[in-house]
Amino acid sequence: MSAVAETFASRHGSAPTGVWFAPGRVNLIGEHTDYNDGFVLPFALPQRAVVAAAPASGARSRVRSVQEPGAAVEFSAATVVPGEVPGWAAYVAGTCWAFREAGYPLGEVELELDSDVPVGAGLSSSAAVECAVGVALAGLAGSRIGPTELARIARRAENEFVGAPTGGMDQMASMHGREGRLVFLDTRDDRVELVPFDLPAHGLELLVVDTRAPHAHAGGEYGARRADCEAAAAALGVAALRDAGPQDLERIGDERIRRRARHVVTENARVLEVVRLLSGGADPRAIGPLLDASHTSMRDDFEITVPHVDVAVEAARDGGAAGARMTGGGFGGCVIALADTDRVPAVTAAVTAAYAERGWTEPVVFAGTPSPGAGRLL
Ligand code: GLA
Repeated sequence: MSAVAETFASRHGSAPTGVWFAPGRVNLIGEHTDYNDGFVLPFALPQRAVVAAAPASGARSRVRSVQEPGAAVEFSAATVVPGEVPGWAAYVAGTCWAFREAGYPLGEVELELDSDVPVGAGLSSSAAVECAVGVALAGLAGSRIGPTELARIARRAENEFVGAPTGGMDQMASMHGREGRLVFLDTRDDRVELVPFDLPAHGLELLVVDTRAPHAHAGGEYGARRADCEAAAAALGVAALRDAGPQDLERIGDERIRRRARHVVTENARVLEVVRLLSGGADPRAIGPLLDASHTSMRDDFEITVPHVDVAVEAARDGGAAGARMTGGGFGGCVIALADTDRVPAVTAAVTAAYAERGWTEPVVFAGTPSPGAGRLL
């Protein structure tokens, strides 16, 4: 029995009906393209949120989290609306709300949550919770709901209940992930194609460097980038930046807006090129320069990097990585580095030394392994 099921049983005196999980994600490439109807290429991590769940005996739902000591948070799944539940439990209550709004049957529930997705690291710990709760609610109700529909419900919780104006990449990656595969997503129609990413077969590893730089995008900067992209699309007279090409950029008069658009347009092209290379069976080292170019574009055109991530990216390259970039929403979070397995110690040492030199908190480095998407554990 998983630890969270035991915790549930000891609190409630009976076993949960089931235990469900959903993973965090790393994005290989395609940053800030998802709310521009563009392309992304994330994969699901082995780190996951786990939910033990059962129908509630009383008239209210109760949720506890192993990470949030204290009393259970209570709400009514039947009536809860945005604004009613603050803090960490908003991800849970929000998913109940969005599930109900989508028209699926929902009773009151008892939930016990646990997660090993680092919080605030840009690895989608919140999407993991939303998706885990979503699959649990579907499981309890006996509803057969497809992964894309559940991802949309989870995203609605994030956007309309929690109030973070994100795109849909994180929830789609968490729902559609597969062992050894990347999730190539066209966010215009949510079409998913799984792309092989067998790094061990090529003697490679994808390192994830958690810079531990403070990171938050529910507020200002993320929304500001989104607004810049909308301004760019409006200036070009297109529905979304997905519909623009490099030749259109000179028609954008405002210099900052033009740079924002250039990031999105070139980033979409880089995603397609990475997919073309990997699907065609190329040596994954060939994507290194595209990872590097993505980082430069995020740093100079989109302006979403911070010194902690720029230093980690440069140190990883100096240590011998074939390519490196920031992953996720930006302003902190994680860096990924593609490295030959025998270069991993040198890359790790280079990043660690660069941080030590500056007196920064030591980063956490681990291997990112494409892992299964959300499902039932027990
Ligand atoms: C965050 C958001 C995603 C996406 C990325 C940037 O992770 O939740 O929707 O926009 O930033 O690519």
